[in-house]
Formats: sequence, C-alpha cells, structure tokens
Amino acid sequence: MANLPPSSTRTIPDIANVPRHIAIIMDGNGRWAKHRFMPRVMGHQRGVDALREVVKACRSLGVEYLTVFAFSSENWRRPADEVSFLMTLFLKMLEREAANLHKNNIRLRIIGDRSRFNDKLRQTMQEAEQLTANNNALTLTIAANYGGRWDVMHAVQGMLEDHPHLAQGFTEEDLAPYLSMSDAPEPDLFIRTGGEQRISNFMLWQLAYTELYFTEILWPAFGREELEDAIVSYQKRERRFGRTSEQLLAGGQSQDKRDA
Ligand code: IPE
Ligand code: IPE
Ligand code: MG
Repeated sequence: MANLPPSSTRTIPDIANVPRHIAIIMDGNGRWAKHRFMPRVMGHQRGVDALREVVKACRSLGVEYLTVFAFSSENWRRPADEVSFLMTLFLKMLEREAANLHKNNIRLRIIGDRSRFNDKLRQTMQEAEQLTANNNALTLTIAANYGGRWDVMHAVQGMLEDHPHLAQGFTEEDLAPYLSMSDAPEPDLFIRTGGEQRISNFMLWQLAYTELYFTEILWPAFGREELEDAIVSYQKRERRFGRTSEQLLAGGQSQDKRDA
C-alpha cells in the first residue's frame, strides 16, 4: 500500500514540465479512411503506424507512461467484420511489435477484460507482457475491451473478495490497489483525436484531475508534431488541484490541510 502513487484527490502530485503520463483516445480512423474513399479498416491499419510514431516520440520526450484506448467495451457493437479485423490487427501488431518494444526498453501492459478474447490473442498478450516486464524507459498500456465503469466495478469486486469486512465501508486507499492502473501515476494529459469532446468510458476514475485536450486531427494523421502541440497546450495550464491561483503563486507545492 505504501508504494502506491499519490492520488490527486488525496495529495497534490508533483508536476513536472513534460507530462509523466499521457492517456489517448485514438479516434477518427474510420473517417480518415472514408475521406480517402477507402474501407474503414484501412484507417485502423494506418492507426497502428500513428501509434508507433507516438510511442517513439513519447520515449524520446521522456514521458514515462503512455496509455491508449484501442478497443472499448462498447466497440463490440460494431459490425462483426470490423470487430474481427480489429482482433486480427491487434494480434498481428503484438506479434510484430513485441520484439521491437523490448529492444527499445519499453514495457507493454494491457488492461481490460480479456475473457472475451480468443485463446491465441490472450496468450500473445501475456507473452508480450512477460517479454517486456522488466523494461523501464516507457510503460505503454493498451486498453482493450476496457471500460472505465468495468474498471471500478472490477476493483470493488476484487477488494471485497480479498477483504469481505470492507463491505462495511472503505476508503480510496483501500480501493486504489485494485484499479487497473494502480502502479502508475494518474494521467497528467488526456488527448482525444477525431473531434469528439467526450470521454467514452475511458479511465473514469484516473482522469479526475487530468488536463483534457481535444483535437480535430484524425488519429492516423496524428504524429510527433501534433503530440508536441498537445504538450505545449498542457504546459500553459495552471493545475490547481482544488487550490486557488494565489496559493500556487505564494506557496508552490504546499499541500492542503488534509495532507499537512
Ligand atoms: C477509433 O477510430 C478506433 C476504434 C474505436 C477501434 P474509429 O473507428 O472510431 O473512427 P471513426 O470515429 O469512426 O472515424
Ligand atoms: C472510443 O472511440 C474508443 C476507442 C478509440 C477505442 P469510439 O469511436 O468508439 O467512441 P464513441 O462511441 O464515438 O464515443
Ligand atoms: Mg470513433
């Protein structure tokens, strides 16, 4: 418990200039393809290239955690052939990229409910995670069949299985270790490409104090430069975590009463 990263609603986290943790909803693949008179799935294919470039940029900029939404728990509602293409693409990507991630000292993690994926995909996920488990240049987390509500419900369930007495009442600290991203700091910067301004059930708990950035750029067209624009926007923000602007000017990182 002592090693858990600070929670933004309990303590004020350290704010470095480059975000330590960036979370991205990679949206707009279908429209990118449609604009080019191509089938939607070509957009997903190109989306993988965009992800590769963004991972590379994050690593070189010194971002410690990159978490991307690849497939939501609601995306099963799409046409069966698109879902099946996405599953195959995910499998191929893991098979092709695991060694490359490892070579670049990148740790890969996958969050979400894996029970709906086929055995082959589940096994490949596990192998890629195992191969890269001890890497420490960047942690890349892929959210697949993930939903923010699932995450919270799953955490509550796990906590109560381990500690039935907590049904009487529990704290944020009791729950925290059971959430998907429990060993990472909360995201500093959230990016959504594709123009929609919504969270779509991504990391509901962890985004409590994250700076939100929305761009019209469609995911396959998003790259290093666009990432840098988002970071520049982030760097202009004042993160108050409940305090006033005057407090920030006067006291820098001074903690609130509860933490004093
Ligand atoms: C995001 O792009 C990728 C996934 C949800 C898998 P979309 O496929 O949602 O693209 P648009 O929003 O239809 O353009
Ligand atoms: C959100 O994109 C999920 C991913 C990018 C994986 P969607 O395109 O599915 O989101 P909504 O349904 O339009 O909000
Ligand atoms: Mg979309």
